Amino acid sequence: MTETVLVTGAAGTIGRLMRPRLARPGRTLRLLDLLDQPPAGPGERIELVTASVTDPAAMTAACRGAAAVIHLGGISREAPWEQILAVNVDGTRTVLEAARLAGVPRVILASSNHAVGMRPVAEAGPGGVPANAPPRPDTYYGVSKVAVEALGSLYHDRFGLDVVCIRIGSCFPEPPGVRGLATWLSPDDGARLFEACLAAPSPGFRVVWGASDNTRGHYSLTEARALGYSPRDDAERFAEKILAESAPAPGDALLGGGFTTTPVGEPNPL
Ligand SMILES: NC(=O)c1ccc[n+]([C@@H]2O[C@H](COP(=O)([O-])OP(=O)(O)OC[C@H]3O[C@@H](n4cnc5c(N)ncnc54)[C@H](O)[C@@H]3O)[C@@H](O)[C@H]2O)c1
Repeated sequence: MTETVLVTGAAGTIGRLMRPRLARPGRTLRLLDLLDQPPAGPGERIELVTASVTDPAAMTAACRGAAAVIHLGGISREAPWEQILAVNVDGTRTVLEAARLAGVPRVILASSNHAVGMRPVAEAGPGGVPANAPPRPDTYYGVSKVAVEALGSLYHDRFGLDVVCIRIGSCFPEPPGVRGLATWLSPDDGARLFEACLAAPSPGFRVVWGASDNTRGHYSLTEARALGYSPRDDAERFAEKILAESAPAPGDALLGGGFTTTPVGEPNPL
């Protein structure tokens, strides 16, 4: 039997890192983005969809026959409120509603550390910041991720969808700077975490942190491990190089790092 997994925002950083890593025999990846994407490589089992997550009809069509949705599509940094609201908040509601209408039983939502970005790192405690730490957004972008989680909770409680929200730290090929030594989610661990979210029997509604098993980490991984996630990477192997090349940045005493000092509503560097 083949299983189809719809991935939104598939042309972005995480989507491109996951495309080869989530390929499995018997699985078709339906890759959706506003942007064009490279065609299938040899033996690659994919379907490409060019559409907006804000388009209800296109999203309902894209959800048809899917076993799960991994929703990555949207604005991944600070931006004017109207854009954040339209793409991240309304877009996520559109994705969840499309999943409901098409009968997709499970949705995995990309949340972010910026949902709790104003929380001091020093408050992490020995077990790390719990995955359900209350909202403390650092930007309009962070507010949108709080709303993403709330929408996931609603669609679980009212419509019975399984929804897992991942508060992603920093998912890039290498940890970005000193803060990344604590927040890195290696691409391979990212794939392990998405697989755990896809495979966990009846997860209900959950919020988990998305990070590797970093020596300097300050997120609790207990909740993600309870889903079946077993991280294998640690940013520490990059520490010597990163510490020689860069210093902590303003804002690094807060979970959100540089986002906590960026002007609200203005596009910022990642
Ligand atoms: N990369 C990280 O470390 C990180 C950390 C925390 C959270 N996240 C979240 O994970 C998700 C993916 O992050 P990323 O780093 O790959 O971001 P990215 O900006 O590289 O990719 C986002 C993708 O979404 C697409 N997109 C934007 N608007 C769209 C729309 N209306 N319809 C369809 N597609 C649209 C873009 O074209 C892009 O390809 C985002 O939701 C982001 O907020 C990422």
